[in-house]
Amino acid sequence: MHSGVRSVAVSGGFASTQRPDRWWVTPAATASGLVLLFGYLTLRAFFPTHVWFDPYISPVVAPPLLTPASGYPGAVPVEHAWLGAFPAWWPAFLPRSPAFFIPALAIAFRFTCYYYRGAYYKSFAMTPPSCAVRGLPAQYRGETRLLWFQNLHRYTLYAALFILACLWWEGFAAFFRDGRFGVGVGTVVMLVNAALISGYTFGCHSWRHLIGGKLDCFSCKGVISPRYRLWKNSTWLNERHMLFAWISLVWVVFTDLYIYLVSTGAVTDLNTW
Ligand code: FES
Repeated sequence: MHSGVRSVAVSGGFASTQRPDRWWVTPAATASGLVLLFGYLTLRAFFPTHVWFDPYISPVVAPPLLTPASGYPGAVPVEHAWLGAFPAWWPAFLPRSPAFFIPALAIAFRFTCYYYRGAYYKSFAMTPPSCAVRGLPAQYRGETRLLWFQNLHRYTLYAALFILACLWWEGFAAFFRDGRFGVGVGTVVMLVNAALISGYTFGCHSWRHLIGGKLDCFSCKGVISPRYRLWKNSTWLNERHMLFAWISLVWVVFTDLYIYLVSTGAVTDLNTW
């Protein structure tokens, strides 16, 4: 045992602990934040109106594979969607939302993220809700049965990298309206969004392993390999992964909300066009 560290036996019912601090604040705040932010994004995915204001596009629907041709004010223009309008056979009970395709993979990436897993296991499953706190009775079987899909995280990373490239593309495209160069508040908001998601994505454990794993030595030939520099940068972001997970999530919501408000006319976008 390290000096100064004492093991604390936890006995009693749910939430019993010998911890004197307010341990419940973090799981309660985490649960509230996740419900609020992911709840908002889920609603927007199912009700994708006012997701476009030329040349801005909401990250909830970007990149858009298909877009509704009518019935959705402020929808992505048909010519901007990769495959055009939703087909006629699309079931009437399902919203015609571009969010159901490529952007949904970003949710898969976040859902299987190592940080988010720890956060929602603690705040929702509560087995246990925090260190040295008695949790709900449960037989944890690792991520082998119901949770086996969590192992797909390394593959969702490839989708996240692709989406990230698209977000940067859309961000730079937001400098141009009708072929004229300019800049608006929305341009800045979209670029900050891409930058924060870059900070989140390149701090991913799977990315860090991809670029720095399976190597015995970074400088065996007497020179520092470029992969070492990449790995070092990724490590810096990885140490702040929780921070980037939250601020990038908040900014996605803010970006969507900003474009929604501008598209509905509730807010005027300041710009140079
Ligand atoms: S571990 Fe969080 S995004 Fe990969």
